[in-house]
Amino acid sequence: DEYIEYDNKQNEDQTDTDLTTLVSFTNYDVVLNTSMQLQQLMVMYEAGIDHIQTKLEILNKEFEVKKNRNPIASISSRVKEPMSIMEKLQRKGYPVTMENLMTKIFDIAGVRITCPFISDIYDVANILLSHDDIHLIELKDYIKYPKENGYRSLHLVVDVEVFFSEQKKRIPVEIQIRTIAMDFWAALEHQMAYKQGFEIPAEIYNELRDCATVIANTDERMQRIANILPSFDKDASY
Ligand code: GTP
Ligand code: MG
Repeated sequence: DEYIEYDNKQNEDQTDTDLTTLVSFTNYDVVLNTSMQLQQLMVMYEAGIDHIQTKLEILNKEFEVKKNRNPIASISSRVKEPMSIMEKLQRKGYPVTMENLMTKIFDIAGVRITCPFISDIYDVANILLSHDDIHLIELKDYIKYPKENGYRSLHLVVDVEVFFSEQKKRIPVEIQIRTIAMDFWAALEHQMAYKQGFEIPAEIYNELRDCATVIANTDERMQRIANILPSFDKDASY
């Protein structure tokens, strides 16, 4: 018989761990309650993202039938992980509480949009802001004012009205809008340098910033080409 006899004795003195002994009963309630609150909150942020995403998909479809080109190249989104929300609160010096999570962190829900041309970025932003269930909280124009490292993008923090079973809520959503070219740079720079936890050497930093400048110049040249083409729809009437 090839079966090996299972040695039961080894296991006999190993008692199973009662997980509830890890936390006192009062704590157990708190843990359970907190994680439920957190879950509910995450659902709200997901709803905020869905809301924006739906608006963008409607625009997308509208452009497809009305215009011969689309100012939106791609849409992606994410909800920030609870661990990194807590880490961010701590980094900013706020006590890690549910209240602070909701009032101090505005990028729990994030949507990223890429556009073919620079002008498309402002068109898409203006359309979104013209919707009366969207309110602008903060705008950072890293295109007009690029970051020191060369990063370019238009950042909006908006809040969207979302209806739930018992109440209407305003959900903050961070929207990053950039050209395909800016996104290429940001994606690679993110992997190599942004918050990688080490100081990058000056010559690499400068090299990356130079790349960003080359890309920005190319974006501007492409824009100028588009602007002189009669086929390119420049009236911001999207
Ligand atoms: P964070 O603490 O990073 O969220 O910065 P912030 O709250 O001051 O907001 P900011 O608008 O500067 O940046 C928000 C987001 O934009 C970041 O979380 C990144 O996703 C992106 N971002 C900002 N700066 C850079 C950058 O230098 N490189 C890359 N790759 N992404 C950036
Ligand atoms: Mg942020």
